[in-house]
Amino acid sequence: MKLHSVDLPFGKNQNLKNTSKVVLLVGLAILLTTVPLYYPLLTYPVLITRSLSRSSLSFLPPSSSYDVLKEESIRVTVTKKCDIFTGEWIPNPGAPYYTNTTCWAIHEHQNCMKYGRPDTDFMKWRWKPNDCELPIFDPSQFLELVRGKSLAFVGDSVARNQMQSLICLLSRVEYPEDVSYSTNEQSTRWEYNNYNFTIENFWSPYLVKVSEADPNGSTQFNLYLDEFDDWTTKIDEFNYVIISAGHWFFRPSMFYENSQLVGCHYCLDKNISDLGFYYSYRKAFRTAFRAINSLKNFKGITFLRTFAPSHFENGLWNEGGNCVRRRPFTGNETHLDGRDLELYTTQLEEFKVAERESVKKGLKFRLLDTTRATLMRPDGHPSQYGHRPGENVTMYNDCVHWCLPGPIDTWNDFLLEMLKMEQKESSQGSL
Ligand SMILES: *[C@@H]1O[C@H](CO)[C@@H](O)[C@H](O)[C@H]1NC(C)=O
Ligand SMILES: *[C@@H]1O[C@H](CO)[C@@H](O)[C@H](O)[C@H]1NC(C)=O
Ligand SMILES: *[C@@H]1O[C@H](CO)[C@@H](O)[C@H](O)[C@H]1NC(C)=O
Ligand SMILES: *[C@@H]1O[C@H](CO)[C@@H](O)[C@H](O)[C@H]1NC(C)=O
Ligand SMILES: *[C@@H]1O[C@H](CO)[C@@H](O)[C@H](O)[C@H]1NC(C)=O
Ligand SMILES: *[C@@H]1O[C@H](CO)[C@@H](O)[C@H](O)[C@H]1NC(C)=O
Repeated sequence: MKLHSVDLPFGKNQNLKNTSKVVLLVGLAILLTTVPLYYPLLTYPVLITRSLSRSSLSFLPPSSSYDVLKEESIRVTVTKKCDIFTGEWIPNPGAPYYTNTTCWAIHEHQNCMKYGRPDTDFMKWRWKPNDCELPIFDPSQFLELVRGKSLAFVGDSVARNQMQSLICLLSRVEYPEDVSYSTNEQSTRWEYNNYNFTIENFWSPYLVKVSEADPNGSTQFNLYLDEFDDWTTKIDEFNYVIISAGHWFFRPSMFYENSQLVGCHYCLDKNISDLGFYYSYRKAFRTAFRAINSLKNFKGITFLRTFAPSHFENGLWNEGGNCVRRRPFTGNETHLDGRDLELYTTQLEEFKVAERESVKKGLKFRLLDTTRATLMRPDGHPSQYGHRPGENVTMYNDCVHWCLPGPIDTWNDFLLEMLKMEQKESSQGSL
């Protein structure tokens, strides 16, 4: 809805390249008065000019998290900065950098080659930001950067998917030791002994406290939208925390605030108001960020890994929908809209609020803005190759998770690039 008000002054896909500056500035004035609250970054004309000259996708805020850093310095340095999250997928014959025989960390349901996926082209692309290069993941460099540090993934199975990609990418240098506290695969802890680097994942698909609505194990959850989940008591020690959430919010669920039932999503009880999943999604991020900003001992950097769109076509996930494309989209073949756009915008709004709050506390929030690159990869999902043929599984065609190796590896290219930026920032800061 907010984004539409951004769209209106210009209209979709309007080419602004040849628009005179005057017209552009008028447009900007409208834009700034329409949405000043949402994206403070939009007050930087250089950024606007740069991003408006691209597709309608770019009506989203310029998203390189480094741009968010020091608002004062942006005016001066912005032209040199590159938004690594806006670009295209280009062929990369050198990929992949691991296989299911060199890496044991690939989750069964993402081991697409094991289950007979016939094509391999989906592994052979890399992300090319429009204005710079995004280097391919360098495992030695990554491990040097994180020596003595620790990284937490908080979220659902897509968060775990990224963690396993990272472990596989690093496996060319070192395999980690399993130092998990339990045998529950939903929460694992890994130690890189030669680097004293720790990775842990915290299962929290809703980011907030939940209970099962039916104690006999239904799929319906009660979400306590203003209550902190367990992970918030365990991340104090971490240097980096990557937060994400997504597809669980589409399930039927009951919403609680102040311990009172306030509504639900798709509970089909006429006496309870259906507030929809945008409501719970917003509140969940708000609460998760509030938790982080309230931690006494946490000194780490929080990354929001933005929503990862699924790619079911010709039906919903439970109605025979599937993802059978074999090539990435180009930027002009797709754009973020509908539900994906709304979820993404919701996250960003909550992120901006939390980020402002975090600055007061000396904490850092960064945007791992994978949404657009991910939207352009309908070819990277397991589809029917996440299990044995004919096997009775809940989601027969998986168009949510990502084959490994595959496009999700690029999320870790982004991560490494961001960690390098952080290091540069801190070394410049100490001059
Ligand atoms: C790896 O993939 C191959 C097909 O490329 C498959 O035959 C094999 O079973 C898989 N191995 C493991 C350990 O997953
Ligand atoms: C490993 O890193 C932790 C911090 O994450 C630090 O407290 C500890 O002293 C380090 N251990 C070694 C052997 O360097
Ligand atoms: C859970 O299962 C028990 C025993 O099968 C049954 O008595 C009870 O009604 C069930 N609870 C719900 C909420 O369905
Ligand atoms: C809805 O509320 C009405 C009036 O309070 C009550 O009679 C009815 O049983 C309720 N229905 C459900 C499904 O709880
Ligand atoms: C879409 O983008 C691709 C790659 O950037 C380009 O090759 C192609 O010509 C574009 N197509 C249209 C219709 O603009
Ligand atoms: C598939 O599994 C579900 C639950 O495990 C069961 O209810 C259903 O009957 C199974 N379907 C087939 C075709 O076996």
